[in-house]
Amino acid sequence: MSTTLSAAASGKFKIGDTTVNRLGFGAMRITGQGVWGDPQDPEEAKRVLKRLPELDVNFIDTADSYGPFVSEDLIHEALYPYKDMVIATKGGFTRLGPAIWEQLGRPEYLKQCVLMSMRRLGVEQIALWQLHRIDPKVPAEEQFQAIAEMQKEGWIRHVGLSQVSVEEIKQAQKHFPVVTVQNKYNLVDRSSEDVLDFCEKQGIGFIPWFPLAAGDLAKDGSVLDGIAKRLDASPSQVALAWTLKRSPVMLPIPGTSKVKHLEENVAAASLELSDDDFAALDAQGKEAAAA
Ligand SMILES: NC(=O)c1ccc[n+]([C@@H]2O[C@H](COP(=O)([O-])OP(=O)(O)OC[C@H]3O[C@@H](n4cnc5c(N)ncnc54)[C@H](OP(=O)(O)O)[C@@H]3O)[C@@H](O)[C@H]2O)c1
Repeated sequence: MSTTLSAAASGKFKIGDTTVNRLGFGAMRITGQGVWGDPQDPEEAKRVLKRLPELDVNFIDTADSYGPFVSEDLIHEALYPYKDMVIATKGGFTRLGPAIWEQLGRPEYLKQCVLMSMRRLGVEQIALWQLHRIDPKVPAEEQFQAIAEMQKEGWIRHVGLSQVSVEEIKQAQKHFPVVTVQNKYNLVDRSSEDVLDFCEKQGIGFIPWFPLAAGDLAKDGSVLDGIAKRLDASPSQVALAWTLKRSPVMLPIPGTSKVKHLEENVAAASLELSDDDFAALDAQGKEAAAA
């Protein structure tokens, strides 16, 4: 396959009034085990972040709960003042240890999340702030109202949601424009297909998390192996190229702690799948999902 290393090859998408290259970067993996504490190799994590602008990756997804705070702090250290990059962050989770995530959507907490992310990232306005989860213990309207107030206040430029249904997006749209939705989605997990279709119709950016099925799709022997070998590409590249071709509103954010993997993932932006390969992968993915 072509070895062009530029996320610009993935095409552009407008998040509200801000244009980004569609292939972004997920910054959850630059933290410790269980997304808790410092990464195993902090210097390599910083090299990953510094390599992003060189590869034209200008859309980064993070969250206050990644570390917590480690991911936002490292992004600030490595990339501030960000130039043309969009740093999207999230709030609404508390952390009580490695791999333990507790939702908290009380309005005063969401406001603290945003104010503290602004401080850590060193910005006066968050370019894209996403509600990490709608907390079922708090009326959704109260959470949306708090977000609308923060947007009015100027703390947040654009608002996104995460792990939501079509109905929840519609409910939120009564309070603010929803510019992105971040749901679990990849070749073998199609449970958010209806949400993706809704986003495409509305021109809402769809950010698939786990685009590599947390690395499973990057392994030799994955469902992608045959087609990957024929295209002289890696399975992870084929998985990413498939998501990019699936919809023009798709904004994949593969996560990695290694420069080598980052470069491999960015090269996927230049991998063009034929319609036949796309359809074959689609069928294989659905079959694997059903199994
Ligand atoms: N909204 C939500 O609730 C939510 C939930 C989870 C994640 N996210 C976001 O979505 C992003 C992506 O999800 P994710 O990081 O969990 O999963 P992912 O991107 O599907 O996979 C990441 C895993 O794959 C490995 N990997 C990456 N590139 C590879 C390559 N080229 N070859 C081999 N292995 C590779 C990484 O390990 P190495 O570090 O060794 O490369 C890492 O363990 C996150 O970073 C985060 O920003 C959001």
